[in-house]
Amino acid sequence: MIGRLNHVAIATGNLQQAAELYKTVLATNDQVSAPQALPDHGVTTVFVDTGNTKLELLEPLGEGSPIAAFLKRNPAGGVHHLCFEVEELTAAIDQLKAAGMRVLGEPKIGAHGLPVVFLHPKDCGGVLIELEETGKA
Ligand code: CO
Repeated sequence: MIGRLNHVAIATGNLQQAAELYKTVLATNDQVSAPQALPDHGVTTVFVDTGNTKLELLEPLGEGSPIAAFLKRNPAGGVHHLCFEVEELTAAIDQLKAAGMRVLGEPKIGAHGLPVVFLHPKDCGGVLIELEETGKA
């Protein structure tokens, strides 16, 4: 069902500092996007392009951010989720539900303007998994 690893998301309490690490030490300035506020998702994101995939640096935005509890448990930040590409999200959801997997909520439009949905980490070996619909290759 899944295709490419689209991104690895890393939660941080300090997006500017996290972005600076990649701009100046681990990568270069032109691999790092400008911050993008996503109020519907309760996060501000910065993407780091590593060539074969991306990192999605996430900082809480506003009240009730979905990553606030994660940062409370992991104050230094850490890996928050993996995002895999799927051709058709509705078909993938039907297939997952038939296999007894818990899909969290309804699909939403994600950071790339494409529909995304999350799977319960307890059904995925303790890893929060995001699926992003990329259409047929
Ligand atoms: Co993501």
